[in-house]
This record gives sequence, structure tokens and C-alpha cells, in this order.
Amino acid sequence: MKYKTIGRTGVQVSSLCLGTMFFKSYSQDSTSRSIFSRSLDEGINFFDCANSYAGGKAEETLGQCMADHGCRNDVVLVSKVCRPMGEGVNARGLSRRHIMQQVENSLRRLQTDRIDFYFAHHYDPLTPLEETLRALDDLQTQGKILYPAVSNWSAWRIAKALGISEKESLARFELMQPMYNLVKRQAEHELFPLAEAEQLGVIVYSPLGSGLLTGLYGVNRSPENGRLLEPRYSKRYSDSANYEIADRFTELARAKGVAPAVLAVAWAMSHPAVTAPIIGPDNLEQLAAYVEAANMDMSPALRDEITALSLNYDYGVERTVD
Ligand SMILES: NC(=O)c1ccc[n+]([C@@H]2O[C@H](COP(=O)([O-])OP(=O)(O)OC[C@H]3O[C@@H](n4cnc5c(N)ncnc54)[C@H](OP(=O)(O)O)[C@@H]3O)[C@@H](O)[C@H]2O)c1
Repeated sequence: MKYKTIGRTGVQVSSLCLGTMFFKSYSQDSTSRSIFSRSLDEGINFFDCANSYAGGKAEETLGQCMADHGCRNDVVLVSKVCRPMGEGVNARGLSRRHIMQQVENSLRRLQTDRIDFYFAHHYDPLTPLEETLRALDDLQTQGKILYPAVSNWSAWRIAKALGISEKESLARFELMQPMYNLVKRQAEHELFPLAEAEQLGVIVYSPLGSGLLTGLYGVNRSPENGRLLEPRYSKRYSDSANYEIADRFTELARAKGVAPAVLAVAWAMSHPAVTAPIIGPDNLEQLAAYVEAANMDMSPALRDEITALSLNYDYGVERTVD
């Protein structure tokens, strides 16, 4: 396993980050426990979670897995806040009130006294940026979180937040988490250049497009079961162009003699701005494919060949004088 530094921090993380969105309750989920254990064996030291995953059960299971292995001090732990955690109008968002409540719940479930990277999971239009940033800064001072981080925000809002943090001497976002895969390349536009200019780490989710880029899906192909068939994901990728790209990509992967899932992850992680992809294995076999991707050398020529299969996203890019 290779390791990289997150942005301008001194924190070293594995080139794969294990996502735990589908971890279930500890007692009922021996698969998640074995995926966690094998990940440690493979050298993965980076784990992504959120308070909302499985209504808190994912954090509980991750916390118990870390306790079983006595490895809390050896891993870099991510969690998030913003999504609804109850019915009340205040049981969501990025208000100081909600953040302060939720961090305590996450720390308890994770069986730890600190979260290494604590994400604003989404943008909250109801809370002023200053309020959120000051709450995160206070948590950093208290040692309950080590670094603030941000997911699913537009680049201009992140840039604005970085400016406020600098002006007010508050802890700034050190890591971002956008979606990124061969058919969802919007992050290349504004987010990755921002991360490179401001030295933010980048971890990208859905490198396989929730299964689209595994060779199992295409214009006339679909497995009987799979994550992508769930309404939330099938809606996200419903444009027929995505399935045409998946077909072209599968053909190229086969011609190169590489499993499509391996090549898709290797492509996502080969963007120079990306610190690590967040991986979502359902079993040990899928974990092995992600690890194979991490060990693959992606030449610039192969990256270009794969990129050319996708839509051209260069519209709207800032232009300088010719
Ligand atoms: N910040 C955010 O808002 C956000 C959003 C989404 C995810 N995340 C994080 O990112 C993590 C990963 O996201 P993701 O699940 O969307 O990632 P993904 O890598 O795009 O998709 C994972 C899915 O692809 C399929 N798959 C994986 N390996 C395969 C293989 N070798 N062959 C065939 N199918 C394979 C599995 O679905 P099947 O069930 O079809 O086998 C698996 O559930 C999550 O756990 C979470 O931690 C964050």
C-alpha cells in the first residue's frame, strides 16, 4: 500500500480510504467486520464514516471494529455531520447547536475521544458560514476534532469559507470530498483546481459510479441485483449516455486485459489532485479489486485514452488571453 500526505497537513493516509456507508449493526454484520479486518491487513489506515450512515449503526460498528483490533491510534478517522438525525427542525444542518450535539454522539458511537477529519457533509443554506466555521474551530480547540473538512459544496462556497477562516483566524477546511468517476467528472472543473491551488486534500466517492463501471452494466446489460438498481442510484445515472460510456469503457478494459472495476478505480485515483478514492466493497472479493487498482500503474497515455471515452467537460472553464 502506498501512502500520501493529506493536503498541507502532516497526516499520512493509505491511497485507499474504506467507506463504511453500508456497514450495518455490529452483531448482524460479519461481512463488514471481515472487510475492516482485511483492510487493515492490506495496509489501509483511512476510514470514512458519517453520523447518518445506517442511522448511527455504521459509526457503532466501525467503533467496535477499531476497539476489537485496538487500532484507533493507528487509523485516520473521518466522520460527518449535516444530514437529518431525527424529526425535529433542528435535528439537521450545520448550526452550532446541531454540530455540538452530533459530535458528542459520533464520539460515543465511535468509542474515541477525537475524530481526525470532521466533514460538513452537505451545504446548509440556513446557517451562516461563520457560525459553522466557528463551531468547527471550537471543536478543534477542544481536541474533539483535529481538522475540519467539507463534502458536496460548490467550489465558490468552499473558497468563500477558506477566506473567512483566514480572515478570522479560524481552523480551515483541509480536505474535500466530492463525487468523481468517469461519468461524473464535474469535480475536474472547479473543485480540483481549488484543491490544488489551496493545498487541500481530496478524497473522492463513488469511483465505480455505484457499480456502473464494473462491466456488469451497459446499454443492453444489467445484473439482476446490484446497488445501481436501487432507485436513488439508478436516478443519478439514468442518462443513457452513461451506459454508452460504460459499454465503451468495458470494451477498452477488456482489450487491455484489466477488470473494468480495477481500471475505473485506478483512473479515478490517477488524477493528480486526488489523495485517495473512497471505496465501497460489499465483500472481500470486491475489496481485492480495489486493492489491485491501488497497485496499478496508470500511465498518462492510458489515462488520456480512458478520459477520451467520457463526455467533454471543458465547457465553462476559465479562459486566459489566447
Ligand atoms: N460524502 C458523500 O456524500 C458520500 C456519498 C456517497 C458515498 N460516500 C462514501 O463513499 C463510499 C463509497 O461510495 P460508493 O459505494 O458509491 O462507491 P463505488 O465504488 O462507486 O460503488 C460501490 C458499489 O459498486 C459495486 N462494486 C464494488 N466493487 C465491485 C466489483 N469489483 N465488481 C462489481 N461490482 C462492484 C458494489 O455494488 P453491488 O451491490 O452492486 O455489488 C458496491 O456497493 C461510501 O461507503 C461512503 O463512505 C460519501
